[in-house]
Amino acid sequence: MHDQTSLMTTISLRGRTAIVTGAGSGIGKASAATLAAAGATVYCGDLLADTAEATAAEIRRLGGNAIGCGVNIAVRSEVNAFVERAIADTGRLDIVCNIAGMMSEAKVLDITEEDLDQMLQVNLKGALFVSQAAGRFMVDHGGGSIINMASTAVLAPSPDIAVYAMTKAALVQMTKTMSVEVGKYGVRVNTIAPGFVPTKMTSRYYTNPDGTEDAAMKEMVLKPMAKFAPLRRVGTPDDIAHCVLYLASDLSSYVTGQLLAPNGGVAGVS
Ligand SMILES: NC(=O)c1ccc[n+]([C@@H]2O[C@H](COP(=O)([O-])OP(=O)(O)OC[C@H]3O[C@@H](n4cnc5c(N)ncnc54)[C@H](O)[C@@H]3O)[C@@H](O)[C@H]2O)c1
Repeated sequence: MHDQTSLMTTISLRGRTAIVTGAGSGIGKASAATLAAAGATVYCGDLLADTAEATAAEIRRLGGNAIGCGVNIAVRSEVNAFVERAIADTGRLDIVCNIAGMMSEAKVLDITEEDLDQMLQVNLKGALFVSQAAGRFMVDHGGGSIINMASTAVLAPSPDIAVYAMTKAALVQMTKTMSVEVGKYGVRVNTIAPGFVPTKMTSRYYTNPDGTEDAAMKEMVLKPMAKFAPLRRVGTPDDIAHCVLYLASDLSSYVTGQLLAPNGGVAGVS
């Protein structure tokens, strides 16, 4: 049975090392900040190095430990250097959050090979490269937690984002398969499938051709989504970051191969 101190210790990530991809924006940024607030040293990686450094600087300003790194997860050598840096600096790697991702729009009948290749390269192969580099260390060093960011698109098919949904479904399968392979080494692997969260990625639905956000269009898009959701709202990056914290911490030490779906209730897990 927990007392307050032992429960806080179970949630705490003090002394642990985490890497977060896609940390320059949205869900990745919120997750990096939350892991750091729980005590982890967080390596914030992003394709846009300046945004990764900005997230790390903000975390440090708030009293946390974070390092910003430019990394293109689609390039294996860059991934290896990113993972190796975190290990070389701290001597450990406990938490990996594969959050970097991209979205494209296409119906199945219209998918181009170029789009398919690019999306597979980032959303699937990128997460695989990170999981391999980090997973090998975790297997040899007593365990860890790997968290992959999928999407509600794998639970409730929606039109026009076919390639995106296909890559995220493959990521869920990668999670399940890896979890049964590495569980005996104390490595846990889980997926989070968020519902709609307004971020840079989703702003495409309410952005003017000149790149500015259209407030009226944004309300038109978000209002019906909130109305349709059982919890009557869309998500926030922190909603998803809290799930990341659960899966990263010892609170979830008996949880692996699972899909956690913070989505306001719009789609159940089948
Ligand atoms: N926002 C949502 O509604 C939503 C819903 C379900 C799932 N997701 C998933 O959550 C994750 C984060 O999405 P977000 O909404 O915060 O998007 P975002 O666009 O705000 O952030 C994505 C980040 O990933 C980075 N990135 C893209 N390609 C990269 C690469 N090759 N290497 C390294 N970094 C790269 C981008 O620079 C960006 O900073 C994505 O995997 C997305 O598919 C988002």
